[in-house]
Amino acid sequence: MRYLLIAAALAACSKPSPTVFISVGTADVPAGTHVIESEDGVAVVELHEDQLDALARHMHEQGRCGGFMVHDTVADALGDLHVAKEKPFDYTLDRAPVVAAIVPRVDKERIAGTIRDLSSFPNRYFQSKTGVEAAQWLQTRWKSFTTRPDVTVELVHHKGWEQPSVVMTIPGTTKKDEAIVIGGHLDSISLGRTAGTAPGADDDASGIATLTEVARVLLAADYHPARTLVFMGYAAEEVGLRGSQQIARDYKERGINVVGALQLDMTAYQGSDKDIWLMKDFTSAAQNTFVTTLIDSYVGATWGLDACGYACSDHASWHKTGVPVSMPFESRMRDRNKKIHTREDTLETSGNNADHAVKFGRLAAAYAIEMAKGQLGR
Ligand code: BES
Ligand code: ZN
Repeated sequence: MRYLLIAAALAACSKPSPTVFISVGTADVPAGTHVIESEDGVAVVELHEDQLDALARHMHEQGRCGGFMVHDTVADALGDLHVAKEKPFDYTLDRAPVVAAIVPRVDKERIAGTIRDLSSFPNRYFQSKTGVEAAQWLQTRWKSFTTRPDVTVELVHHKGWEQPSVVMTIPGTTKKDEAIVIGGHLDSISLGRTAGTAPGADDDASGIATLTEVARVLLAADYHPARTLVFMGYAAEEVGLRGSQQIARDYKERGINVVGALQLDMTAYQGSDKDIWLMKDFTSAAQNTFVTTLIDSYVGATWGLDACGYACSDHASWHKTGVPVSMPFESRMRDRNKKIHTREDTLETSGNNADHAVKFGRLAAAYAIEMAKGQLGR
């Protein structure tokens, strides 16, 4: 009896973790969970935050990876059931001289160096001290690329956790109200030991290192885009695309008109016969076709089409707000890097070089120039 009373007192005292709302494929709804609403195979359910790790682990064990999005309010989660209609865009290829001046400068050794730098943090977990330090490190690196007063590199703080996102903005000259976003996620995770060793070299130091190199070469050439060009290192992707969702929503609320976005999540590991795989789901078919033209015209790599099968990365956050987005990926889904989310996701297990990643760097540079237009120098 006495023990029962102590147990009851302890249970009453231990604070339940905060409630979150997740959207998840109806097939993946955890047993015994209350479904608030469902539509087109997606369900909104209520969970406690401390149940998320178990859910992520369960899905990996099922071989389906994650595929859930975390929301702070039920309204956000329900909003997720409806995908905004995509804005049309006039894709043109008319900046060959600028592309030709920039693309050969994308340096694979520098990409490899940045992957090494980022993966040497013990982890970049969204709630760990080193996860915050990694974001600050990235801000410092991006700031070192220019002293131009028009270019800003900011930490974007989030509601609910410590790790900020990092955002570099190069304001456009003649069309500054239209923005192009090139992003990847800066956080890492290792299942079971979330704050343990999580080098996340391929997932996604590789994407961050790739877009970092694109920003470096563009600024070194004193590039002035006509449209505003924004580089983003998202926080908290591995725990439900949380950083990118807050940013995509915030941009929408502030009326920032993002006319195109590119997501680089995993660029270093070459797992398939073809080089670049465009994910067809949660992306823009029209922009994907344009990206294949960029590859053929400027990158000289082979490409194919595949699908994640779920909202596998931050592109889904933009897609849901109606922004045309593409996700060029390092392999076919079935040939994917099996070391991600483990302590073995190191540069060594991705071939110990950036030979594959550099193709994505050339593509992202071409994408930036043909989407944002503009010129070198003023
Ligand atoms: N980079 C992965 C997504 C990925 C993995 C794409 C393998 C293609 C092949 C991303 O960082 C990730 O791990 N996403 C989560 C889902 C997210 C909603 C938490 C996943 O796949 O488990
Ligand atoms: Zn991941």
